[in-house]
Amino acid sequence: MKTVEAVRVALLGCGVVGTEVVRLLHEQSDDLTARIGAPLRLVGIGVRRPGRDRGDLPVDPALFTTDVLGLVKRDDVDVVVEVVGGIEPARTWLVEALRRGRSVVTANKALLAEDGPSLHDAAAEGGADLYYEASVAGAIPLLRPLRESLHGDRITRVTGIVNGTTNYILSAMDATGAGFAEALEQATALGYAEADPTADIEGFDAAAKAAILASLAFHTRVRASDVHREGITEVTASDVASAKAMGCTIKLLCIARRGPAQGGPAPGSGQDPAAQQDAVSVRVHPAMIPRTHPLAGVGDAFNAVFVEAAAAGQLMFYGRGAGGAPTASAVLGDLVAVARNRLAGVRSASESAYADLRIRPIGEALTRYHISLDVFDRAGVLAAVAGVFARHGVSIATVNQSGRGDQAVLVIVTHTATDAALAATVAELRGLDVVRAVASVLRVEGE
Ligand SMILES: NC(=O)c1ccc[n+]([C@@H]2O[C@H](COP(=O)([O-])OP(=O)(O)OC[C@H]3O[C@@H](n4cnc5c(N)ncnc54)[C@H](OP(=O)(O)O)[C@@H]3O)[C@@H](O)[C@H]2O)c1
Repeated sequence: MKTVEAVRVALLGCGVVGTEVVRLLHEQSDDLTARIGAPLRLVGIGVRRPGRDRGDLPVDPALFTTDVLGLVKRDDVDVVVEVVGGIEPARTWLVEALRRGRSVVTANKALLAEDGPSLHDAAAEGGADLYYEASVAGAIPLLRPLRESLHGDRITRVTGIVNGTTNYILSAMDATGAGFAEALEQATALGYAEADPTADIEGFDAAAKAAILASLAFHTRVRASDVHREGITEVTASDVASAKAMGCTIKLLCIARRGPAQGGPAPGSGQDPAAQQDAVSVRVHPAMIPRTHPLAGVGDAFNAVFVEAAAAGQLMFYGRGAGGAPTASAVLGDLVAVARNRLAGVRSASESAYADLRIRPIGEALTRYHISLDVFDRAGVLAAVAGVFARHGVSIATVNQSGRGDQAVLVIVTHTATDAALAATVAELRGLDVVRAVASVLRVEGE
């Protein structure tokens, strides 16, 4: 009988995700061995505080080390699993590992979105695998379908809810009528939001995931800095009520689209030929979507991603986007794949970035706006406001007015126009003497 050696694994990080990786490696040991064809053996665990209480973790305490770079460089390591997070020192560790030919499995969305090319280049140099399923949408198998199953197709759009914290907050606001601050407090109390929730509520986390999704879906390199980003801190209870009145709900969406600008030369684009070229636009912002849209029913802290491809049509991926065990499930799936490759002496297809597409600025994006204006209730107001829209070539779909003495609230929903034309319209409205305040501006998507 052929003797099969163990695949030796160095684990970097043993926190929320890392401890679950250790548990799964222990509990599933026999099944993993059968699926891979050899056992997985943990040979070292890099952490910051080796003496930290990690409960009854089924692991030899002697495996813990703070010399993470030393662990990565050891000759008896085949695969490095990184669940530490952050840009440095994780980048140094992973580049070193990949250049030395160690395969890497990582959940580090921040690093991949900031400097994915350094990792991909190092993987190519070392002939190693780089897998990162856990970096986007936790347990949901999403990157592998984009990277492998849909490689025969042309993906045109990816629309997703990829941040559980903000989805919890917006779902709570929708269900209870609570304001943003109250819903955030509730999310923090229940452990859905971190003590410093900035990365989630300001959209940084979703923007990093959007960059990773767009790079894979469109065969091009997209970094977090290429993503137009707006968070949810400005969403008010009255926005949510307005959305409800329109048969919509508000979600923090990541929208990545490939193709020429939609609908021919758009108003406000200056008919720039660049707008007609194949290009990529990636944005993260709150938006109203109809309650009939597949993403509208995604509640609580769940994630879901809606993929549209030329031949496959519409596909939807749904599940838990975070948490120790769900994320560890994705890490283990990758670990099995790279371990099998090592035993077979092969490497999976590397990054596919041949399309090298231009990143379309947000101004060229086509969207609809829902604008709420506090105005003076006097003759000629509607005509003055409508004139501003007309000057920027933005067509109005509906207007609703509710009066309060000499004041009124005007709610205007536009037809599709470029974001540049809509932004210019809003800027001019802010300076109009009949407008007391632009109370809110929200994009409307999904129709
Ligand atoms: N938590 C989730 O639900 C989730 C979901 C998807 C993706 N992710 C990603 O998974 C990664 C890990 O997240 P997590 O929630 O497990 O983080 P975590 O609980 O904070 O754990 C981080 C681990 O890294 C270790 N560490 C931190 N800085 C270090 C340093 N300079 N040198 C050595 N070790 C260091 C810590 O060591 P000590 O234990 O000694 O402090 C800890 O074990 C991140 O990239 C995150 O974005 C997490």
